[in-house]
Amino acid sequence: MHTLPEMEELNGYFMNAVNEVIRALSIKHKDVKITGCWANIGPPGSSHNVHNHPNNFLSAVYYVTVPQGGHRITFHDPRYQIHVLTPVFEKINEHNYVYVNSEVEEGLLLLFPSWLTHSVPVNTSNERRISISFNINFTDFTEQVSPPNWEPDVPTHPGP
Ligand SMILES: [Fe+2]
Repeated sequence: MHTLPEMEELNGYFMNAVNEVIRALSIKHKDVKITGCWANIGPPGSSHNVHNHPNNFLSAVYYVTVPQGGHRITFHDPRYQIHVLTPVFEKINEHNYVYVNSEVEEGLLLLFPSWLTHSVPVNTSNERRISISFNINFTDFTEQVSPPNWEPDVPTHPGP
């Protein structure tokens, strides 16, 4: 959808937010683009299974229509092996949770790492939930991001 002329204004809004994330992460290579964009129309009773968005760096959802009862997205701990031993917790807190239910509203743009598994709970309302999703990756990934980093003063991973 991002190549449609009528998406130009929304694309600008999306890319401003993406560039803020790139700056906040202090990523040296800032040349990124939308690799795919699509609309999601979730009628009452619909849901979306756990998934991630392979071969991209960032993913996003822009909420167009959010009925009460269709106003959540769930982010899951991507470490599958964490479920091998799951004790019963007295209380769920920031040290033991394995998923987060995020409440969303119309006009919200949610950006997250593409590797972060997520799902959409059942739309329990009587209305459609409508959102626009897109993925972001580095424009010249193989030339600028993939090669080995031989610069000793440029960290590839954030340190303490
Ligand atoms: Fe998704």
